[in-house]
Amino acid sequence: MKSYASNERHLIFDIGGGCGETYRCLNPKLSPEQLSKFLYLIVDSGPLVVMGREIHKHDAQVDFLDYVEEADWPHKYVDSENSLFMSSVLHYVPHPEAFLSGIISNLRPENIFISRFPVHLDARNIAFGIQNVKLGSNVVGHAVVNLFPSGWLESWLTNQGFELSSAEGFDGPSQAYFEAGCNWPIYIDVKLVSYHFKKAV
Ligand SMILES: C[S@@+](CC[C@H](N)C(=O)[O-])C[C@H]1O[C@@H](n2cnc3c(N)ncnc32)[C@H](O)[C@@H]1O
Repeated sequence: MKSYASNERHLIFDIGGGCGETYRCLNPKLSPEQLSKFLYLIVDSGPLVVMGREIHKHDAQVDFLDYVEEADWPHKYVDSENSLFMSSVLHYVPHPEAFLSGIISNLRPENIFISRFPVHLDARNIAFGIQNVKLGSNVVGHAVVNLFPSGWLESWLTNQGFELSSAEGFDGPSQAYFEAGCNWPIYIDVKLVSYHFKKAV
């Protein structure tokens, strides 16, 4: 862990941020002055964190937390001023409500940015499916994915004290979720949505 005074800078938690792919897209777009205002904390596990720490060992703006080694990591940042970012993560977490409420109740973030969130437009209930994941060289793996109905995230976060600031959607790759075909028609029509929620005043 690098040393820093966390109360001096706004913390951005990139939860499920791998080894820092999003940070490396963001970094060149910001001036040194903008970068100096926040500390970017990437939460992931195992080899991704090891690799990320190595790639970013000379970058004082970014650090990594291993959520398996430090399962109670949100407790460490209870008094911090912070925002959350999650890209393509919530549909892979086994219990998304418990996962989100554990983080939000400790961190009390000012902003929550959620991107690449798949909304199943005709679904009425939360369910799960098996995603076939092509890993290259025709290797196919499987992942359990949560299938979220339209409006679920907005209403859940509103009940937690957040308000929707903006949302933008684009047609999602339903075939990417069900390579072999989905036999539940109500879950076929997918939109990938990016949201910004703010703490309600
Ligand atoms: C589909 S990848 C998304 C990676 C990256 N955010 C992106 O947009 O490309 C999902 C990531 O979530 C991570 N993940 C899964 N469960 C998690 C948890 N409980 N806490 C933090 N990260 C988690 C995985 O290790 C993986 O890196």
